[in-house]
Amino acid sequence: MAVTPETEPLSHRTHPVAGAGLGLRRALLGPLQSYDPEIVSKNVDFMEVAPENWINVGGQKRDFFRYFTERFPFVCHGLSLSIGGPSPLDQTFIRKLRQFMDEYNIRAYSEHLSYCTDDGHLYDLMPIPFTDEAVTYVAGRIRQVQDMIGQRMAIENVSYYAAPGAELSEIDFINAVITEADCDLLLDVNNIYVNSVNHRYDPLEFLKALPGDRISYGHIAGHYNEAEDLIVDTHGADIIGDVWDLLDKAYGLFGVFPTLLERDFNIPPVGELLCEVQKIKAIQDKWNRYAQAENEGAKGSTHGQRLSA
Ligand SMILES: [Fe+2]
Repeated sequence: MAVTPETEPLSHRTHPVAGAGLGLRRALLGPLQSYDPEIVSKNVDFMEVAPENWINVGGQKRDFFRYFTERFPFVCHGLSLSIGGPSPLDQTFIRKLRQFMDEYNIRAYSEHLSYCTDDGHLYDLMPIPFTDEAVTYVAGRIRQVQDMIGQRMAIENVSYYAAPGAELSEIDFINAVITEADCDLLLDVNNIYVNSVNHRYDPLEFLKALPGDRISYGHIAGHYNEAEDLIVDTHGADIIGDVWDLLDKAYGLFGVFPTLLERDFNIPPVGELLCEVQKIKAIQDKWNRYAQAENEGAKGSTHGQRLSA
């Protein structure tokens, strides 16, 4: 495959972590700890947790958690911020979040571009209406969070099953929020695929329209086919070929970015999970080799020009 200028990694971009990661769910703590630690650390470059699951945890569970944070770089992916919700932001939670990130040296905080509260908790991720008014509202709240945690946060493109009151397209909405909030993007390729089937659009065109220089890190996951034209984003199955292809294309467009396997249900044995993490790494290695060859080619031609001058 030819390497074009648009496939070169963007040199000004810095990522909070590198390589291929694995979401650390509570159900995985025991199996991972009893697995060969050398094999785990050889395959997993970073981990991600939901801060809500760990902020107030003490005792033995806290020791378990620290075992991993001392061995792996971490990012955290929130569940409860409700960035698009009508209730005021939970300032107590955000203060605790900052302490939690400091205490465990957690490199980045991401959340879903959705909401999960009304007057109370809705226990689901609801779609924010794609409107200019919502862009201003959400971007303001993201900036508030960023001020409180003292760094940029990343927002994730989410899967959604209805778009109530939409005035903008999904891609225009996401891009407007990122620009107005001056935040980063958590790029979930499975969510793009799921939405492209459910809402009938071209996933590659959508991918191309995202701001690659804002990618903090990525997610990849499996889903469930409810019907031919309805996919449910379950994180409960192996990743399908079309989603792997989309990750490959994302690296081709934007350069390699750190990418994490999300698996929340039907969790297979650790060895099987690590195979999927290895597959992320294999695609990253391929694009890193292309980039390296391209750089060496560019250096070689500059050197040749100098010699002939
Ligand atoms: Fe995700």
